[in-house]
Amino acid sequence: MRILVIGATGLVGGAAADALEAYGDEVLRASRSSALAVDLTDAASITALFERVASVDAVVSAVGSVPFKPLAELTGEDYLSAYRGKVAAQVDVVRIGTAHVTDGGSLTLTTGILAREPIRTGAAAALANGALESFVISAAAELPRGLRVNAVSPTVLTEATGYHAFFPGFPPVSAADVGQAFVRSVHGVQTGQVFAL
Ligand SMILES: NC(=O)c1ccc[n+]([C@@H]2O[C@H](COP(=O)([O-])OP(=O)(O)OC[C@H]3O[C@@H](n4cnc5c(N)ncnc54)[C@H](OP(=O)(O)O)[C@@H]3O)[C@@H](O)[C@H]2O)c1
Repeated sequence: MRILVIGATGLVGGAAADALEAYGDEVLRASRSSALAVDLTDAASITALFERVASVDAVVSAVGSVPFKPLAELTGEDYLSAYRGKVAAQVDVVRIGTAHVTDGGSLTLTTGILAREPIRTGAAAALANGALESFVISAAAELPRGLRVNAVSPTVLTEATGYHAFFPGFPPVSAADVGQAFVRSVHGVQTGQVFAL
């Protein structure tokens, strides 16, 4: 398959891209700093990316920036920033990218464990993850042409050592295992699913 991975220079997106390549896929790696450049906070940039790649069999998005602050310090702007940086960014991949995915293809988004487990400072991230996971359930029911949409929702990654102190007692998951969840989403039959790991 020909697969577009957005966020491919990152930890999660890199794991997805490597796992899909190992499976035998042709992977197009995109991010703001990649030769295949895109900024998911700019709808015109997403449109330009999909016009450039024209047609793919699957899209993976592993992007999302959200503020981490104690609940009492989170401002309205912080919540909007989480929405723009993680929710709207990935919803726009589905909204704009769907027309560029071949019949029977798929779109896979990235959420995270904070949709179902709280940590201190995680409220804005939880809001973003939960919103995206609900979106995936509903969007799957309406996508045309046999297209599928899922979310991969990992706990903290073993390799993301800078985050470990925020996740006391949470067994981390390896980037390699997260990569396999993307392979399952792209090459499996599931739709409207959240792959929690
Ligand atoms: N790391 C973890 O333990 C973990 C656990 C659960 C969920 N997640 C989720 O996984 C996603 C990715 O996290 P990560 O840890 O892999 O982050 P990361 O290592 O910082 O990578 C982020 C990737 O997204 C790209 N990117 C950032 N902003 C972008 C934008 N506006 N438009 C296009 N590309 C953009 C970055 O490349 P450029 O800078 O070149 O754009 C990079 O390729 C996030 O949604 C995060 O919440 C991560």
